[in-house]
Amino acid sequence: MSTWLVTGGAGFIGSHLCEALCARGDTVRVLDDLSTGHRANLPDGVTLVHGDVADPDAVLEAVQGVDGCFHLAAIASVERGITDWFGTHRTNLSGTIVLFEALRRAGLQVPVVYASSAAVYGDCPTVPISEDAPRQPLSAYGADKLGCELHARVATHVHGIPTVGLRFFNVYGPRQDPRSPYSGVISIFCERISRGAPIDVFGDGRQTRDFVYVGDIVAGLLAAMRLRPAEAAVFNLCTGRPTSVLELAGHIAALAGSALDVTHRPPRAGEIRHSVGSPARGRAALGLVDPAVLSDGLRNVLDWMAGGR
Ligand code: NAD
Ligand code: UD1
Repeated sequence: MSTWLVTGGAGFIGSHLCEALCARGDTVRVLDDLSTGHRANLPDGVTLVHGDVADPDAVLEAVQGVDGCFHLAAIASVERGITDWFGTHRTNLSGTIVLFEALRRAGLQVPVVYASSAAVYGDCPTVPISEDAPRQPLSAYGADKLGCELHARVATHVHGIPTVGLRFFNVYGPRQDPRSPYSGVISIFCERISRGAPIDVFGDGRQTRDFVYVGDIVAGLLAAMRLRPAEAAVFNLCTGRPTSVLELAGHIAALAGSALDVTHRPPRAGEIRHSVGSPARGRAALGLVDPAVLSDGLRNVLDWMAGGR
């Protein structure tokens, strides 16, 4: 039985990870400021440390005695990085350095698996995007995630802390909060379409994304923690399958048995046109099985919203 720190554990992805860790009998400590996460997301038995990942003292206390850290705390919205550049930077990059520094101060060379993002690539001209593609982020969010990867290399190389970064593509699933304007497109569309409300499509709706189910992300996180590489490692977590925003809306409407009511809005600033990853390297290194198909995942989201599960 191991003890894990999960930063951002009360959030969407973090709470699914906590569930998986608890289900195998591990001890889970969550550090979360509950800014977008919710205490109610946490399974029984998890210890919540209500604190800020960019607060060095809070993090130093939270890492005591852990066997490894899953670092998910972040302001996960690309949009928020535009309106609150420095505030998001403080959490997204400084918070990551604070975690590595806390481990160094505590003399702990335990592994850290952290959430990077497809946003590090920016607008990549060739898809699917492999890990070797140029990293040219177009958003503050993507720039900070790239910064996390660079500091993770330092943590491994200079301080002997094994690190694995996972570049998540567009993650979706139950518990992604549909009420937040900064939430992912799938939770927003499922919530609106299932009650017959109109949806906003930014731009022409032909931009594509690689939608990956949260269960596959949890499998990737758990496998990455077992890796403990001597050199800092980074992998994509994605499906390799493109879906346009309009196709997505159509799938959801068909599954929900609702009509589509689309309003086109101007494209978002800093928006990436096509984001589809190559899953091959991560799948081989982490021993992952085929990812969930979109329609199954969407059904789970719609069931969850309908109060099922
Ligand atoms: P989320 O907002 O549900 O979870 C983030 C959690 O971090 C929340 O519980 C929030 O309260 C917490 N948090 C935020 N600022 C904090 C701070 N200063 N101190 C402590 N806790 C703080 O988002 P999510 O979708 O679960 O994202 C989890 C991670 O995955 C993030 O690092 C995000 O950048 C990354 N990611 C997500 C996606 C996606 O599509 N959802 C894609 C790529 C990467
Ligand atoms: C998402 C993640 C980000 C992650 C990145 C990795 C969220 C909130 N953001 O960014 O953390 O790093 O993937 O690839 O999960 N759209 C609409 N109408 C809406 C909402 C969105 O048309 O109401 C469109 C957007 O313009 C975009 C697409 O849907 O083209 C996806 O948007 P969104 O879910 O916000 O995610 P990303 O910006 O791709």
